[in-house]
Amino acid sequence: MEEQMRSVTVRVPAKVNVQLAVGGARPDGFHDLANVFLAVSLFDEVTVSPSDGLRVTCSGPDADQVPLDRTNLAARAAELLAARHGIAPDVHIHIAKDIPVAGGMAGGSADGAGALLACDALWGLNSSRAALLEICAELGSDVPFSLAGGAALGVGRGEQLTELPVGGTFHWVFAVADGGLSTPAVYREFDRLNEDVRVPEPAASQALLQALRTGDTTALAAALANDLQPAALSLRPSLAATLETGMEAGALAALVSGSGPTTAFLTKDEDAAQTVARALTASGTCRTARVTTSPAPGATVV
Ligand code: C5P
Repeated sequence: MEEQMRSVTVRVPAKVNVQLAVGGARPDGFHDLANVFLAVSLFDEVTVSPSDGLRVTCSGPDADQVPLDRTNLAARAAELLAARHGIAPDVHIHIAKDIPVAGGMAGGSADGAGALLACDALWGLNSSRAALLEICAELGSDVPFSLAGGAALGVGRGEQLTELPVGGTFHWVFAVADGGLSTPAVYREFDRLNEDVRVPEPAASQALLQALRTGDTTALAAALANDLQPAALSLRPSLAATLETGMEAGALAALVSGSGPTTAFLTKDEDAAQTVARALTASGTCRTARVTTSPAPGATVV
């Protein structure tokens, strides 16, 4: 038994925001959101094992872009959980990274949620779901959803979740761009672009929720919306060519994923997704294209 607990691995998904409605800036600098999250089948794996002190390592093609210090959300998750229980965060966290880094797909949030669940199991803490979700919210706005997976509406700064039913499988292609975009910088650009505009209260689209509930790809394509897209395009104008390439190759809809620069393409089936992925790769308008499905389960011990 003790031997089995020498390490724990948690698999945790990426996300796309099928609707990201952004309100005005709040006094605390955050923005009120109506954020419809959908987990997609791209996963990081977070493995924790006992160590003399807190240590983070990372493997995968983009591992060199991942911070290994205490700014890594996985390290912060271990520290927060340990502090709550009055124990030392003596753990080696290894991240096997497959989610694009700084790509608007909640890769950092995924590692935070994964490390939290893995440390909870390694240390035998048996925290309640509510306690884990609370720590997730402290780590970042998207972290609770990384733990939950599936589909959910996030309000407040995105951390207050209501699970949403999904009635089918959706097929996606993600075009991974060269380099990342800073989320705070994209929100700042949103504020700049909306300086003279009265930004309405963010609200979830009923048509979009209905499309998810019934698994209707065509209706979902018509309802996709990301209020951060103009800001991401303003900071990275080249994304327009990527979006256009995917649409020309037969995607039903295209949008920037979260704060970008990853772009997301919804397709009618797996074949169409492969066609769009080939066209995106051949076009040179992105670094790589990934074919995925949704929804995907949340953080899970494997
Ligand atoms: O919560 P998280 O650490 O992911 O947020 C990163 C940054 O994104 C915040 O510092 C803020 O600039 C911006 N943000 C925001 N409103 C939200 C979520 C994030 O302005 N609801």
